[in-house]
Amino acid sequence: MLYRNIAKPVFFKMDPEAAHHLVIGGLEKAAALPGGRSALRLMYGVPETPELAVDLFGLHFHSPVGLAAGLDKNAQAIPGFSSIGFGFMEVGTVTPKGQPGNEQPRLFRLPPDEALINRMGFNNEGAEVMARRLKAETRRTIPVAINIGRNKTTANEAAHEDYRKCIRTLYPYGDFFVVNISSPNTPDLRSLQHGSELSHLLSEVKQEMELQRGSSSVRKSILVKIAPDVSAAELEYMVHTLTEAGMDGIIATNTTVRREGLTHESASETGGLSGKPLRDRSTEIISAIYRQTNGKLPIIGSGGIFSAQDAYDKIRAGASLVEIYTALIYEGPEVNRRIHAGLRNLLRRDGFRHISEAVGADVQI
Ligand SMILES: Cc1cc2nc3c(=O)[nH]c(=O)nc-3n(C[C@H](O)[C@H](O)[C@H](O)COP(=O)(O)O)c2cc1C
Repeated sequence: MLYRNIAKPVFFKMDPEAAHHLVIGGLEKAAALPGGRSALRLMYGVPETPELAVDLFGLHFHSPVGLAAGLDKNAQAIPGFSSIGFGFMEVGTVTPKGQPGNEQPRLFRLPPDEALINRMGFNNEGAEVMARRLKAETRRTIPVAINIGRNKTTANEAAHEDYRKCIRTLYPYGDFFVVNISSPNTPDLRSLQHGSELSHLLSEVKQEMELQRGSSSVRKSILVKIAPDVSAAELEYMVHTLTEAGMDGIIATNTTVRREGLTHESASETGGLSGKPLRDRSTEIISAIYRQTNGKLPIIGSGGIFSAQDAYDKIRAGASLVEIYTALIYEGPEVNRRIHAGLRNLLRRDGFRHISEAVGADVQI
């Protein structure tokens, strides 16, 4: 209520990117105040609910709902996001060198469509800055994934070096890692999802993960985040290749370049579309991955989750965890409590004692 009635009307009058910085800065400052994190937890935290706790990748997730990549690009507000009900979060996408991203404006709201279009272009401070910040941050209470990408100026032929540099610099500080090859806003990035480019990249990434594991003796998981704009055959190839390469999981999906069914005038803006219009497509992709892998490859569902039912649909399609971004902008942090309580009720309604029993329940294998 607080967000929808008071903060949202103010934020939605502001330029979207300025509002975004205000949210990150506000959360960072609120969590740094004495008693700030307890106050945030009191307002927005979710109760410990054993039916909804997930153990995966050697990590404990007290809630299955996480924050998707791209909001906390520089890992500035981990204590704040940890206190408002998320079960985990991704930071990044981070690239080896800091870069400014695309020219502004590059983030657009489409309120009647409950959607956003962004062409941020991996604006971030770079891996070294993120590593220093994460090293100094000792108040982490949820698993933090580091989402990595390549610099705009790096050609795809050398992309593996960028991903390896990010892993090398950041390995000690992430609980797990995500290879982002699915942003539509870095020219040509998505072609890394196909053919020999994919198998080569993943084998390089795997080698670097093994190397880092050897020197730190802690095994950390590596996932790949994919786009929804792929054919059935392309998806099958991707899933096959990343399973063969020994990836630990998949995040489905990133934003879409498709534009069907939008009503807002910003629909023609270039970039990735997120929010409601993406919901069903990403759920379809999750089902297809679950079916192809017989439920053996963990999936994190992302795309258009606004309600408990949306999250539940993705879980029943095969997702073990889910993430949100656009709903947080439209609904505020209250969305976590609503999804969490609703998920518990849906599980009970359907006679599941634990969320793991619902994973893939809608998919015939
Ligand atoms: C403004 C904005 C920036 C994003 N930046 C990234 C990013 O840097 N890396 C990434 O993997 N995904 C990024 N995403 C995609 C989200 O992580 C998420 O996968 C997508 O928005 C679908 O979820 P949603 O419908 O809940 O927003 C971004 C999305 C938005 C709206």
